[in-house]
Amino acid sequence: MDGATTVIAPVLILLGPPGAGKGTQARMLEEKFGLVQLSTGDLLREAVAQGTEAGKAAKAVMEAGELVSDQIVIDILRDRLAQSDCQRGVILDGFPRTTVQAQALDKLLEESGQKIDAAISLDVDDAAMVTRISGRYTCAGCGEGYHDTFKQPATAGTCDKCQGTDFKRRADDNAETVASRLEAYHAQTAPLIDYYAKAGALSRIDAMGAIDSIAADLAAIVKTATA
Ligand code: AP5
Repeated sequence: MDGATTVIAPVLILLGPPGAGKGTQARMLEEKFGLVQLSTGDLLREAVAQGTEAGKAAKAVMEAGELVSDQIVIDILRDRLAQSDCQRGVILDGFPRTTVQAQALDKLLEESGQKIDAAISLDVDDAAMVTRISGRYTCAGCGEGYHDTFKQPATAGTCDKCQGTDFKRRADDNAETVASRLEAYHAQTAPLIDYYAKAGALSRIDAMGAIDSIAADLAAIVKTATA
């Protein structure tokens, strides 16, 4: 991650397994604190839809529920961080996911005299993940996330945010892929909890409760970390 000198503040990281609620909470933090949500999953899905070289390389890997190569993800994230809206601060959702990615992020921030303000782990039971993921859908227009049971639009079939009526489900939200995604999380991403604990940046939240109560816990951590 060389050559980026833009100042970005604050820098928040949401850690957690697939379906933990990273995207749901990142969007709420974005609204509450005026930050920018950066989801590497969304950036990769965009690259796949556009048929870029990175997207072509990522497609099969994502469908198998494995991690896309560090270099592809780091390049995509670096390019996105260089865009001017990120200067008001970012919530990294799904990045970093390996120690190599975490070290690359540290280096990028160091180059511009910055550091991570908080890495927050959303702690959940594996068993809840399949239920959360299998009921998930999003608005095709604005990306607002919903769930068949846990978060339905106020008016059935109409997005609360943009009033769109077209919804979609992700190709990798099926039982087999979820099992691989959980395996990848435990093997490659969970060690980052220790990584950020050692760096003195880690907070943990019990993310088995209701969406709004987790949002309140998270907002309190973010307020303290960015005060
Ligand atoms: P990505 O898109 O990042 O998927 P993920 O990590 O598997 O996480 P999800 O988006 O599935 O879950 P989430 O935690 O955001 O949960 P959500 O808020 O939607 O990555 C996809 C793929 O891209 C990876 O498998 C990999 O191949 C690749 N990739 C991405 N980043 C990479 C990287 N850095 N390196 C390498 N490869 C990378 O919530 C889920 C559902 O539950 C929703 O319906 C929601 O409404 C509901 N819900 C949320 N909170 C609650 C709650 N508290 N109670 C009940 N329901 C809830």
